[in-house]
Amino acid sequence: MQPDGSRQVVEATDGESVMDCAVDHSVPGITAQCGGGCTCSTCHCYLEESWFVLSGPLDPDEKDILEFVPERRGNSRLTCQVRVSDRLDGMIVHVPSSNMDR
Ligand code: FES
Repeated sequence: MQPDGSRQVVEATDGESVMDCAVDHSVPGITAQCGGGCTCSTCHCYLEESWFVLSGPLDPDEKDILEFVPERRGNSRLTCQVRVSDRLDGMIVHVPSSNMDR
């Protein structure tokens, strides 16, 4: 979901990252400049609480990068670190407004 409330529904492949799926579908605001290397934070997103829990734990590298993300929230994730799986079917990914300036 974009900051303006608009939505784009995309199909994802089990095992791919949410970032790869977003880039493949040209989702605005997910530029992923480091290509999934967990170094740029241009794939930042928010997940609703239930999806955030199901998305799994953050590893130390992701936590470190998120420290420097504008508009970080408790439900922030890097989409390159979230793997698509059946349990995430229907997940809504929110693109932060700060991503639109990057
Ligand atoms: S694509 Fe760079 S941190 Fe996710």
